[in-house]
Amino acid sequence: MRFVLLCLSLTFITSPSLSQEAIGLSAPDEVSDSGLLQHILPRFSLKTGIRVIADENGEMSLNSAPPGDPVFARGGVTYHLLTDGTDRQDRFRDWLLSDIGKRTVESFAPQQGEPFSASVTVAAAPQEQAIDGNVTLGQELSLTHCGRCHVIGPQNRMNGLGSTPSFAVLRAMPDWSDRFEAFFALNPHPSFTQIIDVTPPFAVDRPPPIHPVEITLDELEAILAFVAALSAADLGAPLQFQ
Ligand code: HEC
Repeated sequence: MRFVLLCLSLTFITSPSLSQEAIGLSAPDEVSDSGLLQHILPRFSLKTGIRVIADENGEMSLNSAPPGDPVFARGGVTYHLLTDGTDRQDRFRDWLLSDIGKRTVESFAPQQGEPFSASVTVAAAPQEQAIDGNVTLGQELSLTHCGRCHVIGPQNRMNGLGSTPSFAVLRAMPDWSDRFEAFFALNPHPSFTQIIDVTPPFAVDRPPPIHPVEITLDELEAILAFVAALSAADLGAPLQFQ
């Protein structure tokens, strides 16, 4: 018996980082009430040493609609996990989407209602026209011209202006490409943006209030290609195409 206890305590001591601060996870009532979280969270924590606890004010959230990554479904509702892009939170998402995670979700037998399904079908994405542009170039241009205000990805995640939507957030919008194609006409950009040969020059009596953004249409196309290659999940994950 003593030996068993010793083993147990050793297990806890050597668990990688259970002592780290727990990540709070909020979820819709029907998910919380089902008991699913009590079923999956301890299993994830034991596996990874990352503690995730149900918390209605949590910084990570499950929602019955996008944004986020679809992770499981029940009764016609697909639940999306929205992480802040940090490694620990993304690890939870990756685990949920892994075979083990899916099995764990599906092995849960709720007291009431049907079980959760982990084979989530993503609603058909709106038809997107092919954008040919140079993604790597687009990344550089985005960083130089847009990265002053927008978080464009992990490259400048600390430098964006808090009030400005990140590229990942904009990318998650169904009409993202319309917005990017016309960004120079959408506030606040017109006062400081010129697309060579497209926008009229700044009025002499209205110089741009800040260092202007001056790019060509080809460069905008490259930026679009870069944004097209992003997904909402890229908030923090290293970009794949490098
Ligand atoms: C000086 C800061 C600044 C720079 C530089 C900047 N933006 Fe923005 N951008 C903003 C702000 C602020 C908003 C949010 C406007 C709002 O919510 O009304 C925005 C919004 C947007 C939107 C969403 C517009 C909409 O109304 O849906 C797009 C798309 C966008 N920016 C693209 C770009 C691109 C591409 C670049 C670089 C070529 C860029 N921005 C450079 C500040 C900036």
